[in-house]
Order: sequence, then structure tokens, then C-alpha cells
Amino acid sequence: MGEEIYKYIDHGGGSANRGNHIFAKKAENIAFELRREIALLLGIKKYDHISFTYNATYGINLLLKGFLKRGDHVVISSFVHNSLLRPLHYLSKVRGVTYDIWECDSSGLFDIKTLEKLIKKNTRLFFFSLHSNVLGMALPLKDITELSQKKDIALALDCTQSIGNYPLKLEGVDMAVGSGHKGLYGPTGTGFIYVKNPYLVTPLIQGGGGHLSSHLDHPEMSPERFEAGTLNMEGLTGLLSSIRWVKKHHSKVMDMFYLLFNTLKKMDKVTVYGDLERAYQIPILSFNIENFFPSQIEHYLSTKRIICRAGLCCAPLIHKRLSTFPLGVVRVSLSCFTTKEQIEEFLVQIRLLTRKKREELCSKLH
Ligand SMILES: Cc1ncc(COP(=O)(O)O)c(C=O)c1O
Repeated sequence: MGEEIYKYIDHGGGSANRGNHIFAKKAENIAFELRREIALLLGIKKYDHISFTYNATYGINLLLKGFLKRGDHVVISSFVHNSLLRPLHYLSKVRGVTYDIWECDSSGLFDIKTLEKLIKKNTRLFFFSLHSNVLGMALPLKDITELSQKKDIALALDCTQSIGNYPLKLEGVDMAVGSGHKGLYGPTGTGFIYVKNPYLVTPLIQGGGGHLSSHLDHPEMSPERFEAGTLNMEGLTGLLSSIRWVKKHHSKVMDMFYLLFNTLKKMDKVTVYGDLERAYQIPILSFNIENFFPSQIEHYLSTKRIICRAGLCCAPLIHKRLSTFPLGVVRVSLSCFTTKEQIEEFLVQIRLLTRKKREELCSKLH
């Protein structure tokens, strides 16, 4: 990825849609190819309905603020991340939007009948994270899509954790959002939205786009509709090359994930959260060890060069269902770079931890 970014800079560093010279054309080609790759990963045909954003958070804000009107009702789920919960809470204060939470059970499983019961006359949007960034489990997408179509409610999906980690087929979905730096292994500060009918979403910003410069109105068609100003060409170049790389290297991750999961769940004093065998999983799991704070475990592991994330992971709602609020969990994420030896070393360290006392760990750490 780094080499491709360097090549882009070294070979002109052009800006897409800013001229007819070869450097601008090369940049346009990168943007075009990247839209096509993202559309393929999402399982949709209209690649020109993919617009680039700075990250998933910007995309979620854009979709919520551009789609929802005063008095609309929204349903979200216990899986959602603060990047969705906070802008929605904000809209509830400034625009009179209301929302309900579709709750999962204590294993992270959802019942579609309880979603149906939350629908009101003014429900205009279901906005869900397809995969939980805490449990790695997926929502029942087929049932949700059928219900949203039956009730004529728009369906938006946060695919930030899913894309690259899981084969998607989103033809029945109205809007989707994701970022480049997770399952796609791309640069930070890259992201995208997909909008099936762009005219239903009002853009957040207007400005230069390189087209129709004599008009005062910003172009209405997608993808330019949501892309005012210069694109992050270095980031997009890196993302295109990382997507092409990940398509070849992703396959072994889930085998390793199940090796980790099956061993960890049998360990004494260890709790692995969620029903990971009954949902479409990505390579993420969360656990705790009896008598330790999650942050202690995270710190201990980091001294062994094992990097996990502890706490609420920006997703407070799910912890209320798992009874892990407010301290949270320790989350492990595997990647294409994870080796079997690293998994074994991780398990050795967890086994050692289960034999230690909390005080013992504190004194060693200070
Ligand atoms: C499910 C989910 N949605 C959204 C985000 C926010 O992504 P970004 O930092 O690209 O805005 C995250 C980040 O962890 C996430 O896990």
C-alpha cells in the first residue's frame, strides 16, 4: 500500500476531475476503480452511487442529517456504535427526531418479531450496524430486509466492521456506510457511503467539484452530489491497493479465529461473550477473566506485545445487554497478519493470567 501511495505522489500526484491532463486522468481512474471495488464488495451494481467520505462517522452523520426530517422515527439496535448513537441523539434534541432501540438478548441474538413491534406510523428509517464491533456477530439481515421492504421503511447499514471481513449482498438495502482502515486494511481517514436513491439524501456541503463550474448549484448527480472539494487521493490510492491485496489474503483468518474461540471458551475463569456459533461472525471476540478489570488484562497483554482493546469500545448499548457496563470487556481482533504462533502465545498468556491473583498483577504492573 505504501509503495502505491508513493508511486501516486511520485508520478504527478494529480487530482480527480481537475483538468484534462494525464495526472488528473490517472487520479480519476483510481477513483473510478475504487468505486467499482467497493461496489463489488458490497454486492451492488451501481458503483457511481458510492461517494467517498473521511471516515464512517462522517458518512453516518451525512446519511442521518441528510435523510431525516422533523418528526421522523428511527429504529437502531443494541449493536450500534457511538458514531450513530450520538448524531441521532443530537437530532432528537435539535430536530425532534425520535428513536427506539431494538434490543438483542444476553447472547447477542435478535428476534425479528420484536423489531416489528417497534414500528410506528412515522418510522422512516432502520439504521443498524450489520456486525457488532464488540461481539463480531451479525444481525439477521435477510429478515430485516424483508421487513423493511414490506413496511416501506428505508434500511441503512453501518458496514464498518463487515466490509472486507464478510461477503455482502446489499441490493435490498437503501444506504450503507463504511471506513477504509478496518477489514480493508486501508489508510485512516478514508470511508464511503452508498445511497441507492441519492435524491432522498440532502448533501451536507456544497463547493467545487470540477464539473459544471458555471452553475451556482452544486451538481445533483452521484457521486459528486456528496463530494464537494478535493478528494483525499493519497488515501484513496492506498485503499484501492489494500482492497486488491486483501481479496487475495483474507481466507485463512476465520480458521484461526475458531481455533482461538474454541480454546478460550473452554478455559476456567474466562467468559467469552455472545453466541458466536449462531451468527455470521467476523474475526472479533470479547472476553473477561474472573477477578480482573478489563483494562488490567489489556495492559498486562500489551507488556507481552499482544495488543487488544479494553472497555466499552464506543458501543455502550451492547454492554447493558451483556451486563458488562460500565467496565466493558477485552476485545481481540484477528487480521490477515495474525499467525498460529501468535494465537498460541496469546492462549499461554491467558492461561497464566487465570492462575494469578488481581493484587499480584497490580504489583507487577507498577
Ligand atoms: C461499527 C462501527 N461503526 C463506525 C465506526 C466509526 O468508524 P470511523 O472511525 O471510520 O468513523 C466504528 C469504529 O470503530 C465501528 O466499529
